[in-house]
Amino acid sequence: MEKNQSCRHVAIIMDGNGRWAKKQNRERTFGHTIGVENVRNIAIRANDLGIEVLTLYAFSTENWKRPLEEVNFLMKLPEIFFKKFMKELMEKNIRIRMIGEWEHVPQDTRDILERAIRETSVNTGMILNFAFNYGGKREIVLAAQKYAQDVRDNGRALELTEDEFTTYLMSGEYPPVDLMIRTSGEQRISNFLLWEMAYAEMMFLDVAWPEFTTDEFEACIRDFMQRDRRYGGVKA
Ligand code: IPE
Ligand code: IPE
Ligand code: MG
Repeated sequence: MEKNQSCRHVAIIMDGNGRWAKKQNRERTFGHTIGVENVRNIAIRANDLGIEVLTLYAFSTENWKRPLEEVNFLMKLPEIFFKKFMKELMEKNIRIRMIGEWEHVPQDTRDILERAIRETSVNTGMILNFAFNYGGKREIVLAAQKYAQDVRDNGRALELTEDEFTTYLMSGEYPPVDLMIRTSGEQRISNFLLWEMAYAEMMFLDVAWPEFTTDEFEACIRDFMQRDRRYGGVKA
């Protein structure tokens, strides 16, 4: 597909794993296992399409409410993912990054994420950014704290532009989200990238994450290309 500079950052709420598995009389965790395979498929396609940043919602600050057994399973997924696909990610020149708080994440999961970030830091291709123990409100609060600290400790001036505030966010170095996709039929944001999605185009799909195909993903990008983004202005 022709590279379109305006679709730089795609963010996906990978939802519907549990319901998809239940429909097939399988455990919810089976849905997560197949979902991990699909992370690989969609990431590779996004990279091939020339997307600069793909942010995937993997674990929210609210997901700790789930049964301990499921939380433990979700914490094991990075290991499964990187063991299986690290070689391919390197071949594809993909960089791994993460937004979210390391705090509360079990040490072995942290080690795995940190290693993946470190090993792929030499790459120059697409950024595959996992939102892990991530909450949009939390991200904004942490940014506000960092800014306040900068004022107090470094004598930073009080006036603050939107662009300057953005630099205090965990995602501050990435372009704003152009396209947000949520699978599973739910039509809500669930505390995902609140600041970054201020002007994102939204797509809510009925398909569950494990069955969301690379061709459907590409169709979303094509649909996005047809949209008329006005940013509050009028059509020329
Ligand atoms: C998304 O699928 C995966 C995570 C939230 C980690 P769900 O586990 O939310 O699946 P449903 O939405 O209950 O079907
Ligand atoms: C959002 O899905 C979080 C992730 C996909 C990681 P949830 O399934 O947790 O969201 P709700 O509970 O339906 O809002
Ligand atoms: Mg869900």
